[in-house]
Amino acid sequence: MASSSVSKKLHPYPTGWYVLAKCDEIKSGTLVTKQFTGKDVVLFRTKSGKLSIVDAYCPHMGAHFGHGGDVVGETIRCPFHYFCFDIKGTCTETGYNTSPPTKAILKTYHHKEINGFIIIWHDINNSSPSWHIPETDNTDWSEVMTADYELNSHPQETTENSVDVGHFSVVHKYTNVHDLKELTTDGPYLNASYGFSREGGILNNAGIKAQINIHVHGLGYSFVEVTLPAMGLQTRQYVFPTPIADGKIILKIGMSVKKIEKPSKLNPFLAVIPKKIVNKLVLKQAFKGYAHDVSQDFDVWQHKTFIEQPALAMGDGPIIKYRKWANQFYVGLNENT
Ligand code: FES
Ligand SMILES: [Fe+2]
Repeated sequence: MASSSVSKKLHPYPTGWYVLAKCDEIKSGTLVTKQFTGKDVVLFRTKSGKLSIVDAYCPHMGAHFGHGGDVVGETIRCPFHYFCFDIKGTCTETGYNTSPPTKAILKTYHHKEINGFIIIWHDINNSSPSWHIPETDNTDWSEVMTADYELNSHPQETTENSVDVGHFSVVHKYTNVHDLKELTTDGPYLNASYGFSREGGILNNAGIKAQINIHVHGLGYSFVEVTLPAMGLQTRQYVFPTPIADGKIILKIGMSVKKIEKPSKLNPFLAVIPKKIVNKLVLKQAFKGYAHDVSQDFDVWQHKTFIEQPALAMGDGPIIKYRKWANQFYVGLNENT
């Protein structure tokens, strides 16, 4: 008989905010289709720059906006009969200069543009967002470099990684892993902080000490502040798992580096290079290291199962606290939805 402690399927689409794109990916006057929670949604930006996220299918007779549709002025236009819809989903015209049918209402999704990313609110009842993600102050920070990976995983599993202290040393080979601050939660927000050392770090500085401060806003939006005090280096590492289908996510990772004050602290050779170039170089190199570290988890994530009551040992980290916190994103969901 299967025991509940062995495995339980997590609901594929927990409530919360998820990243769909970088803001600059959707230029004014264009539209882009994205997969999200087992369906297609279409993002469009009007000529004046306003963004909207709508159902992919036209409420008139079901054509897909992403296949031949376009943006006309402040509306999205369907390729089939040229019905146009504004950013609120109201039909503003038909292709025949007749009055728009009152029933032709295009579904729109709650969204925001924050910290350079387009985030969509997912709630099974399409209710208004019950919480928000704060803006971060990006003064003195570089652009955010990103990469996308399509993985067989789940946002709860990838986000759990940041509190899975045990795997830091096994998978990532970090040493001297210790708590800097105990895990705390505040509604949908979770915070934890650790210190550790790692070999062959940025620009190949071995045995470098790092401090990480983890900010988790729901299961779809996390960022980690990483500080390497000896090198005077600070980075923000973004982790955005977005559920595109049952058991499938797009993991978008991103990195931004704080302007380097003293390049020579990083590497004496950098002192003679213009600061602008140093910043670019460090971002590129640090991102490479980050992408490498994240990819070390992929094989485990893609093949693991979710164990509801894990057989935990000392050294595992605050897994149970994390799981209890994560439960709030499943309220009102069940296996059939
Ligand atoms: S199906 Fe979109 S206008 Fe007819
Ligand atoms: Fe990891």
